[in-house]
Amino acid sequence: MANIPIIALFCFTIFVSSSLNFVYGAENMTYVVVGHVYCDTCRVEFETKLSEPIAGAVVKLECRNRTDNHLTFQSQEIVTDERGDYHIVVEGDYEESDCDIALVRSPNPDCSDPSEMWRISRVVLTTLDGVSGELRFANNLGFKKDKALPQCTRILQEMGYYELSQESGELSPSSEL
Ligand SMILES: *[C@@H]1O[C@H](CO)[C@@H](O)[C@H](O)[C@H]1NC(C)=O
Ligand SMILES: *[C@@H]1O[C@H](CO)[C@@H](O)[C@H](O)[C@H]1NC(C)=O
Repeated sequence: MANIPIIALFCFTIFVSSSLNFVYGAENMTYVVVGHVYCDTCRVEFETKLSEPIAGAVVKLECRNRTDNHLTFQSQEIVTDERGDYHIVVEGDYEESDCDIALVRSPNPDCSDPSEMWRISRVVLTTLDGVSGELRFANNLGFKKDKALPQCTRILQEMGYYELSQESGELSPSSEL
């Protein structure tokens, strides 16, 4: 139920910003970046059905000028809700910047090791490169659990990963159980 006002706020924000954008152009654009933070309970660097949302995880959005690396936007620390979801409102156009959402910290001591692959997500915050729309989706970001859950072996076998990683001689999930 708590999500209904948030959705209404999104719609309102998007409606208002679309109207303004129509009148004023890209520099007055408002973007809503949405994303999700999960706990990789199998320590495999991707989401499985055993992954769990992390409520209270902290992320940050930063944009840096692609040419001189100066900070062009920095959000406050953003905290995920009870579903592990967050949203960040950004005003302006960042065509000349690279914008990244990064994990800052996890509230769970047993799941606070940032994923190698999914600790940062690039988001595009301009309409000038052909991406339209105010809602921008970031890749899900994950922290890894300190010890993989016992059920992971079965889930990964079902997914066909288990044998694969054993054959290739890489660190297999079983070695962490
Ligand atoms: C952005 O909006 C303000 C009014 O809120 C206006 O004065 C300004 O000219 C607009 N900028 C652009 C680039 O259209
Ligand atoms: C980015 O840096 C370049 C080189 O310093 C500068 O010309 C440009 O205006 C900067 N853009 C923004 C949006 O700050």
